[in-house]
Amino acid sequence: MAEPITANLMDKIVSLCKRRGFIFQSSEIYGGINGFWDYGPLGVELRKNIRDCWWNDMVRRRDDVVGLESSIIMHPKVWEASGHVGGFTDPMVDCKVSKQRFRADQLFFAAVVVDGKTVGYVSVLESERIAEELQEKAETFKRKKAIQGKLEPVQQRDFTEAKPEEIPQIPSPATGEPGSLTPPRAFNMMFETYVGALRDESAVAYLRPETAQGMFADYKAVLDTGRVKIPFGIAQVGKSFRNEITPRNFIFRSREFEQMEMEYFISDEDDWAKWHRYWINWCRDWLVSVGIPASALSEYNHPKEKLAFYSKGTTDLMFNYPFGVQELWGIAARGDYDLSQHAKFSGEAMDYFDDVKKRRYIPHVIEPAVGVDRILLAILCSAYSEDQAPDEKGKMETRVVMKFHPRVAPIKVAVFPLLKNKPELVKKAQEVRDLLRPYMTVFYDEGGAIGRRYRRQDEVGTPFGVTIDFDTLGEKGPELADTVTLRERDTMKQERVKISELLTMLIQKVR
Ligand code: GAP
Repeated sequence: MAEPITANLMDKIVSLCKRRGFIFQSSEIYGGINGFWDYGPLGVELRKNIRDCWWNDMVRRRDDVVGLESSIIMHPKVWEASGHVGGFTDPMVDCKVSKQRFRADQLFFAAVVVDGKTVGYVSVLESERIAEELQEKAETFKRKKAIQGKLEPVQQRDFTEAKPEEIPQIPSPATGEPGSLTPPRAFNMMFETYVGALRDESAVAYLRPETAQGMFADYKAVLDTGRVKIPFGIAQVGKSFRNEITPRNFIFRSREFEQMEMEYFISDEDDWAKWHRYWINWCRDWLVSVGIPASALSEYNHPKEKLAFYSKGTTDLMFNYPFGVQELWGIAARGDYDLSQHAKFSGEAMDYFDDVKKRRYIPHVIEPAVGVDRILLAILCSAYSEDQAPDEKGKMETRVVMKFHPRVAPIKVAVFPLLKNKPELVKKAQEVRDLLRPYMTVFYDEGGAIGRRYRRQDEVGTPFGVTIDFDTLGEKGPELADTVTLRERDTMKQERVKISELLTMLIQKVR
């Protein structure tokens, strides 16, 4: 059985994604552009399947959630009301020598303390081993400066916690020397643009940094369609843009990414904690349904003191990525803040008349918000595995298998004629391909030895392979005529299946 691989997993995934056409660096022919990614032929299918699964489960299969597609550029007042113009910032630090920029909360430092006295500072960028790296650097610092005495264990802090007098003494992670880091300053992450022919203040607009505000801005319009009653949700999938200071970890943190968000409106008297828990569980179960193991997921509750003043509670579903346990899906209880803000800034009433309670109120909101790209990366990490399998000559070789859940696999089934120079086999295989193609993504491949063709499909995670051979043509007797070999990717088990039963069988397996 294939085992999940952890050593160098990210390198292996990035290389496979490029080699097999899942993900490319954007504008690579011009040297690339940091924080932007392109999805190739297989990546685009995987991404679409993730989106479709979410949309079907979140919107189409529910009575209480409706869909929306709002524009990417909205009235700039939207972002004033939401607080993004004033407060959507990350703390940024510049290194004046190297001209590199860092996020202050991702730059860690520690005083080097010998016999109770601070003799200098060391710094590192966020990693899995911050404390160990700082300790190692402190030991090197002491040795290089030939300082005698007992080195105390380092106390790590992030750069936002540095006192003004410490800043000139903290070395830049780029140069290793102190004196070049600026104090942290707030950097607004929204991309600005201009609408219309004029390029002045009055024409400034923003690429949306989240899809959520579309749901709040259109809340009244959706309510007026009369299809919805509290509790109900509005869901949207679409691109968001953030000028991240340090995009990194492949597609984990990008400057252009796609979000799937849902605003669930409840009554002001509802038990928000019950609904919050309901949506956390829903999101977790959904992730498992697309092939992410429950064992790789955990919950992180934001501490009360770090929550925005209006927030009642936020829980992140965390995934164990190869570069550490990181946020995958945030589920926030936002009170009535967003609707109240839009009521205040737009002058439009945002209240809801509850015909059961016979009174008006501004609904409260539970918001599950996730990035498609982060789910896709979690799926890639969960799916990657290697095992040993025999080649055509029986020699064992390493087989790379992407164990995608059939729901999201980019190609559901590969169809192979055993030999490409036998017209009867090719004709039959093409008939099978055409039979399946209206219902699922099919890859037809007649090139190379059959074992090689299986391997190629294993590497891109195709769950099923169908081979048309001489038995299919009835050469071994009529009982095998019009049957094919159906091979299962993970077990490599093969069974003989009647062509007349193949479609129904596969539809059941891939949905
Ligand atoms: N409306 C709330 C909101 O946008 P968020 O935690 O900033 O909340 C929600 O973003 C989700 O969007 C995150 O949990 C993550 O999955 C995804 N996301 C946020 N920033 C991202 C980025 N720079 N690149 C990729 N995905 C991102």
